[in-house]
Amino acid sequence: KKMTREEKYRYIEQAPPGELERLREKVSKSPWRQKYHIQPQSGLLNDPNGFSYYNGAYHLFYQWFPFGPEHGMKYWFHTISKDLAHWEEVGIAIKPGGPYDSHGAYSGSGIVKDNKLYLMYTGNTRDHSWVRHPFQCMAEMDQHHSITKFNQPVISHVPSGYTDHFRDPKVWKSNEDYFCVIGAQRDNKTGCVVLYQSKDLLQWVFKGEILTDLNKFGYMWECPDYFEMDEHGILLFSPQGIEQEKEKYNNIYQSGYLVGKPLDVTSRIFEHQPFKELDKGFDFYAQQTTETPDGRRILVGWMGLPDLEYPTDKEGWAHCLTLPRQISIKDEKLIQRPVSELTLLRKKEKNININVHNETKKLGDFHGTAYELICDIEDIKAERVGVEFRASNNEKTVLSYDFINRELVLDRSLSGLPLGNKNGNIRRCSFNAQTLKIHMFVDVSSVEIFINDGEEVFTSRIFPNESSQAIRFFAQKGSATFKAVKWDY
Ligand code: FRU
Repeated sequence: KKMTREEKYRYIEQAPPGELERLREKVSKSPWRQKYHIQPQSGLLNDPNGFSYYNGAYHLFYQWFPFGPEHGMKYWFHTISKDLAHWEEVGIAIKPGGPYDSHGAYSGSGIVKDNKLYLMYTGNTRDHSWVRHPFQCMAEMDQHHSITKFNQPVISHVPSGYTDHFRDPKVWKSNEDYFCVIGAQRDNKTGCVVLYQSKDLLQWVFKGEILTDLNKFGYMWECPDYFEMDEHGILLFSPQGIEQEKEKYNNIYQSGYLVGKPLDVTSRIFEHQPFKELDKGFDFYAQQTTETPDGRRILVGWMGLPDLEYPTDKEGWAHCLTLPRQISIKDEKLIQRPVSELTLLRKKEKNININVHNETKKLGDFHGTAYELICDIEDIKAERVGVEFRASNNEKTVLSYDFINRELVLDRSLSGLPLGNKNGNIRRCSFNAQTLKIHMFVDVSSVEIFINDGEEVFTSRIFPNESSQAIRFFAQKGSATFKAVKWDY
């Protein structure tokens, strides 16, 4: 059953004693708990926030509603890692409840200055008529993870021309200046990104909109991010309200990027290539990036989407974050690879090298529910090749390459518990390849698949039975060689 508004907009202190503990207990028994992904102890996780390297560690926060699988009163929850592979929970970071964030500490970002981590976020408020009033707020965190919210917002007004859908500041520094992008909706109900500038992170000057070619591209752009790499400017955002076009934009909301020339912050003109989706899977949204001390650009996304139901809802929790991915650019396209540190999670290793001809081959000792698999498919003389995983007699998730239509296909129609049909069960993506490298990370209720070293990525939740563990390799109408390595996680 759905929660009432009153139940959704409660602070933790207002819960009857024992409510959260009981929920946490229930959640801990869920068969879908992940082994190595960041997930909430109870309730709902959404956007990654404040992703930063500070004081010798990575800090990654997320949007959190503690009481159930709903979008209610949002907190920032804090996790920390020395290596981008093992994460530790710190606890609640930003608590909503001040005059400027009475109805949620919404998404935002982090930046280090004077040995502190500054967290800029959207304070969500609602007035008596339930009209939304967003404020852009600031908090600072010290080396002991102690967080102090500023008394006043740093941006108190939505500039004229934009609606109350105005949120998710992402800050960066360029030379001596700070900039931030904010996701916005114009009065004519189209989405865009606006730019602010500051000398000190405290006083922000509204510069105006980032001028792209996308003047009518959905009704709201959430979670923008901007960075530069190899003499390109890259603007990431999650637009809402884009119509499906064949294999494109099949999810309920999208997430993607524009690659262009570096943004001219004076004219705000951004010359760019067409919008591209970041991930071709079913469950990916609201990504955020940060830079590592050795100069890598790392991206984490929310492995989920708003407004969809998931099988874990019944158990009082929903969603997890994706694994961190390193971004690079190739031919004006973003390439995403799992960060190299993930090899630290590898345990027992197994190898195979087999020829498959007009059949689906299963190897007795090649199975699991949480593992990394790298599979090179070579000498392909077949119409279709692929891998079935989390498979049993009646369940399987299938990633295949179709040489006739030249497309990658992820099929989760037989994965296990059904997922909202609204979102469909097959994702396709045009792809040209002679050989295939399928690199995948299977966790108890998810999979992330990187094709040919990050040319395409498919991220999905799946809900198979615990006993669906087989991994099978197939070639149809011909043959192929499969060389695979698997590590238990
Ligand atoms: C994106 C989003 C953001 C907002 C946050 C609230 O999923 O809607 O725009 O800040 O979630 O949790």
